[in-house]
Amino acid sequence: MGGRIVTMTTRQRAEQIVTALPLTDRIRLVSGRDFWHTAAAPGVPSVMLTDGPHGLRKQGGPADHVGLADAVPATCFPVAATLASSWDASLLEEVGAALGREARAEDVAVLLGPGLNLKRHPRGGRNFEYFSEDPFLSGTLAAAMVRGIQSEGVGACPKHFAANNQETGRMVIDTILDERTLRELYLRGFEIVARTAAPAAFMTAYNRVNGEFASDSAHLLRDVLRGEWGFDGLVVSDWGGTNDHVAGLTVGMDLEMPGGSAAFDREIGRAVADGRLAEANLDRSAARVVELALRWQEVRGDAAPDLDAHHALARRAAAAGTVLLTNDGLLPLPADGTLAVVGAFAAEPRYQGAGSSKVNPTRVDDLLTALTAAHDGVTHARGYDPATGATTPALLAEAAAVAHAADRVVLVVGLPDRAESEARDRADWSLPAGMDQLVEVVLAANPRTAVVVVNGGTVNLPWADRPAALVEAYLGGQAGGSALADVLLGHAEPGGRLAESIPFAVTDLPADRNFPGHPKQVEYREGLNVGYRFHDTWDVPARFAFGHGLSYTAFSWGEVEVSGEESDLTVAVDITNTGTRAGSEVVQVYVRDVLARVPRPAKELQGFAKAWLEPGETARVEVPLDRRAFTYWDVAAGDWLLEAGEFEVLVGASSVDIRGSAVVLLESDDAVTPVPVTAGPVATDAEFAALLGRPVPTPAPRRPFTRTSTPADLSASLPGRALVAVLRRLLARQFSAEDTEGVEDLVEAVLAGLPLRSFVLMGAGVSFPVLDRVIAALNGDVRRVVRPGR
Ligand code: BGC
Repeated sequence: MGGRIVTMTTRQRAEQIVTALPLTDRIRLVSGRDFWHTAAAPGVPSVMLTDGPHGLRKQGGPADHVGLADAVPATCFPVAATLASSWDASLLEEVGAALGREARAEDVAVLLGPGLNLKRHPRGGRNFEYFSEDPFLSGTLAAAMVRGIQSEGVGACPKHFAANNQETGRMVIDTILDERTLRELYLRGFEIVARTAAPAAFMTAYNRVNGEFASDSAHLLRDVLRGEWGFDGLVVSDWGGTNDHVAGLTVGMDLEMPGGSAAFDREIGRAVADGRLAEANLDRSAARVVELALRWQEVRGDAAPDLDAHHALARRAAAAGTVLLTNDGLLPLPADGTLAVVGAFAAEPRYQGAGSSKVNPTRVDDLLTALTAAHDGVTHARGYDPATGATTPALLAEAAAVAHAADRVVLVVGLPDRAESEARDRADWSLPAGMDQLVEVVLAANPRTAVVVVNGGTVNLPWADRPAALVEAYLGGQAGGSALADVLLGHAEPGGRLAESIPFAVTDLPADRNFPGHPKQVEYREGLNVGYRFHDTWDVPARFAFGHGLSYTAFSWGEVEVSGEESDLTVAVDITNTGTRAGSEVVQVYVRDVLARVPRPAKELQGFAKAWLEPGETARVEVPLDRRAFTYWDVAAGDWLLEAGEFEVLVGASSVDIRGSAVVLLESDDAVTPVPVTAGPVATDAEFAALLGRPVPTPAPRRPFTRTSTPADLSASLPGRALVAVLRRLLARQFSAEDTEGVEDLVEAVLAGLPLRSFVLMGAGVSFPVLDRVIAALNGDVRRVVRPGR
């Protein structure tokens, strides 16, 4: 008989390996070996997954998921908020590739990022780690980053799937939202990534969505991600965020992390034995883990990233994400005259956020050094304490004197490190009072002042129209200081456009009515009214609109032309650089359904492109649109439907600066289902119930205590408080290898919101049977204390 060469796919090899393994090994594979590694099995290496989105955070020694213990040095790129402001997918891909190279050199198989949750509210604690208030922009940029990371053979793991838009109560909160809002806002970015970038993995969110924990949500995982989008890669839990691994395995959540405590092994074994978990589902997940490890085995190898080149890329990226909000001509700064640089952040830069994304940078540039090197006659005053933002009369007086004596001033203000971090939302939206005071004092001393704001999430800018120039620098990463000098001096252009609106007041925003919500439940009653969708639909202007950003040069826009068949269209416009400097312009394409039978936002971003032009140069910018650009999610049909009729294609430089438009008439047989309408931007009880298609749920009660009760819940009872004291010690022990000074409040925030089950999952030395007994005791359930069961 003649032989036949059979080539097996990696998945088939993985399946073959899994089939031959005993049950205990297969169970071991679906939880991690330790904080950062998958479990090994015969023929299957253990591989590393680690943070993070804008730089590698690889811990060698003590591990934690809030960025306390040290990590190996790595390039700290600008955070997602900054990168997104570049509106430059190719740049994101380049940064992704650099991240991939550094990960590869450190033998990291999967990088835990990018994070692409939507910025629902400006006080969201992780807004710095996320891209935008718009899902199309978020998804498009995240997809580019994924492609970049994976071009180096390293897997990307977009996170946190899904509807994780706040930090308060993040591990237990139930996000209540209607299906259309879920699809159009909170899932769309993930869908773009899943469908166009083939990431190796997705990470589930900590929270619940409409009652189901994201880590075992049949709707999110089985129906949508696996079912509709056809994603067949690995799904990994967030760290300590697996609610019920048996349920998760059933619906397609494969890998519980960290997993070192083997907490679920017994439960999984029992579930297989009694038929609650189909063995095929366990094997399917184990095979995905094995496939990942085998793939890494094939590509792993030596790599020596060029850290100088990565630093230069980080510098370019930071400039590209810097947004010039206002400018009366002060910027770029001329080479002559004297320059006062006010603000401690100029010398001690704030360049990244706190938490799991915190990178140990290879070096850090500061603005003051960079400006001093390039400009004569630079003086400096601190103005405030960089740790708190507080000022004193002496600091203010010094700042005023230095500002007054100079021809021009650069004043750097922003949020101190402590103000924004994973695990908690920002307490308020303002800058520290001392900074606002300093702005007043410096502007009074010298009106030729450019104010630079450094921050991960937007801040209130009540004095915004008074400085001669205003720059939103976000968090620029390790080269942020030199990038900012490049921009201020005109060596680089401010390439950024806002990827989020900056409102006049957060109280203007409908989401503010339910942020952060009840400790157990947050209701997205604003539906689609987030960001510019709200501002433009309800005519409530933002202080700075989504998409806004000035240039050092000027552009003229030609006529908008739309060509194509049916809904597959190309939008084209000629852009000419009419100024005297090279620069870039971002062409933003919004779609408006002119006469819709279902309520639709006034306009939605459906395409964009960035053009770089020399003075006098003209470029034809083309932006494709497809059917999805015109559709909405029809809940009754369970599908994206196109309502026949007129659509306006609005082409502009921001959501409110529309430079041209065209009307297209689209045909469609789709039968639109009428939907409940809300009278205002925030749904009333009855309206919200109608949108949900069920009564608005009542938040889960604190008692009886369960595995998802938190220390905050327990504190209501005396024995509960005693237990919290023990838990605090356990957590402190986990973080003890590192000095927690300055982050005590972070540790407290983590503790207060940590469900009891997480103490088991994070390796605090407690098992589920023990925890269940303790819970039974707290509930006074003597029978279960003696004879525990699930
Ligand atoms: C964060 C994730 C992160 C993980 C590992 C979690 O607390 O939510 O984004 O990847 O920790 O550090």
